[in-house]
Amino acid sequence: MQRRKQIILKIEILICLLLGSAICFLTAASALADDFQGATHQLPYDDEVINYHKAIPRGPVAELQAKIDRGDLTLKFDPKFGYLPAMMDALKVPKSSQMLVFSKTSLQRAFISPKNPRAIYFNDDVYLGFIPGAPVMEVSAVDPQLGGIFYQLEQTEKPRPQITRNPDCLQCHGAGKSLGVPGHLVRSIATDETGELDTRTEVSPVTHRTPLADRWAGWYVTGTHGAQTHRGNLIGADAFERQEKHPNYLGNVTNLNRFFKTEAYLTGRSDIVALMVLEHQSHMHNYITRLNFETRIMLASYGHIRYLNSQVNAFLRYLLFTEEAPLTEAIRGDSQYLKDFASPAIRDRRGHSLRDFDLQTRLFKYPCSFLIYSTAFDQLPQAMRDHLLQRLHDILTGKDVSADFVKLRPADRQAVLEILRETKSSLPDYWKKF
Ligand code: HEC
Repeated sequence: MQRRKQIILKIEILICLLLGSAICFLTAASALADDFQGATHQLPYDDEVINYHKAIPRGPVAELQAKIDRGDLTLKFDPKFGYLPAMMDALKVPKSSQMLVFSKTSLQRAFISPKNPRAIYFNDDVYLGFIPGAPVMEVSAVDPQLGGIFYQLEQTEKPRPQITRNPDCLQCHGAGKSLGVPGHLVRSIATDETGELDTRTEVSPVTHRTPLADRWAGWYVTGTHGAQTHRGNLIGADAFERQEKHPNYLGNVTNLNRFFKTEAYLTGRSDIVALMVLEHQSHMHNYITRLNFETRIMLASYGHIRYLNSQVNAFLRYLLFTEEAPLTEAIRGDSQYLKDFASPAIRDRRGHSLRDFDLQTRLFKYPCSFLIYSTAFDQLPQAMRDHLLQRLHDILTGKDVSADFVKLRPADRQAVLEILRETKSSLPDYWKKF
C-alpha cells in the first residue's frame, strides 16, 4: 500500500514537472532574461565542488536538531497544530508572516485545496509549510554554502522528533525555477475549484519585478491595495472571468472566512506585505546561492572570477531593486507583520534601516536588500565578496555611471551608502572614507 502510494506520488510529480516545464519555457525565457542571461540550467551541485547531497548542512534547522538530539530542547506537540507552534518558537518565525496557498504544489498536494490551503511562515532564513491534517510539516532553511535545505517533520508525537532531509523535494526545488540551484519557489498560477493547476496561466518565479496584476493566482491575499488589481483570492475559471468585468471584486479583502474555515490556522490572514517580502527574499536567496556556486565552480576551473561580470551586474541590479515593479497606490497589510519584520532592524544614526517599508510607490524605503546582512552574503567566496563590495561602493558613490543603475536616484544611493557604512560589519576600509 505504502509502495503504491509512493509510485502514485512520483507519477504526480512527473506530470507536474512535465506540464510545468513545457508551458513555462516561453514565459520563463522572457521573465528571466535578466537573471544570468536567462540561464536557469541546473548547476552541477552534486559534483565535488559543491557536493550538495553529501555535505552536512549547517544553519538554524541543523542547530535545532542538534539541540533536540542532545536533549537540550524538547518540541512540544500541540493537539491541533502538531509541531508547528513549537517549531515557530524555536526558530523565531513570526505567526504574522502567515501566507496561504491553495494551488496543489507540494509532495503533499493531495491535502491542499481552496478549503484546506497550505500555510507558509517565514523569517530571514527559515520557511515552514503547514497543511491541516497532512502527515508531515515541510521545512526549508538557508545554508550559507549549500543554498536551500529541504526537510520534513512527521506530525506525530515523539520523544525526540527528527527533522530529516528529503532529496525528493529537489525535484521541484532544485531545478530551473529556483535558478538552477537548491532554492525557494513562488509562483502565480490559476487553479480550478479544487486547487488543480491551470499551467497555461503560470507566472514563475514571482519576484519584486513581477507586476502586481500578475501576482498571487493560487494564493489568498489579505490587505488593501486600492485600485491595483492582482490575481489572488480567485478560485476557478468563472472567478477569473468575473474579475475581468469587475476588477477587484475579491480584492482589498481583510477577512477570509467566506472562503474556508480560518480557525484551522494560527491566524485568519494571508498578508499582502508578507507575500511581497517573500517574493523579494526567496529570489534573492536563490541568487546568492547561484552566485556562490558559480563562483566556486569558476574558481575551481580557472582560478579567477573575471568571466562572471554579467552575472555580477544582474545580481547587483536585483540587490538594488532597479527593476522593481512600481506601486501605483498604497499597500496596507497587517500591522503586526510590519512590527515583527522591523524588529531585527539595524539602524544608522538617522534611524534609517534597510528593513524600513515604503509601501507607497515601492516595497522598501531604501533600495538595497536586507539580505546583504545575511551570513550567506558574507560567506560568498572572498574574491566575490570583495568584488561585489567594490562594485557596490562605485555604484552608491556615483562613480559607476553604467546604464544598469541610472534609475537609482542620488538621494537613494546616498541613503543606502550611509546605512551600510554605519551598520554593515567588516566592510573594507575604503568604505569608511568620506
Ligand atoms: C511538485 C513540486 C514540489 C515538490 C516536490 C515540493 N515542493 Fe515545496 N513548493 C513548491 C512550490 C511551487 C512552492 C511555492 C508555492 C507556490 O507558489 O505555489 C513551494 C514552496 C515551498 C515552501 C515555501 C518556501 C520555499 O522554500 O519555496 C516550503 C518550505 C517547501 N515548499 C518545502 C518543501 C519540502 C520540504 C518538500 C519536500 C518534502 C517540497 N517542498 C517539495 C513545489 C514543490
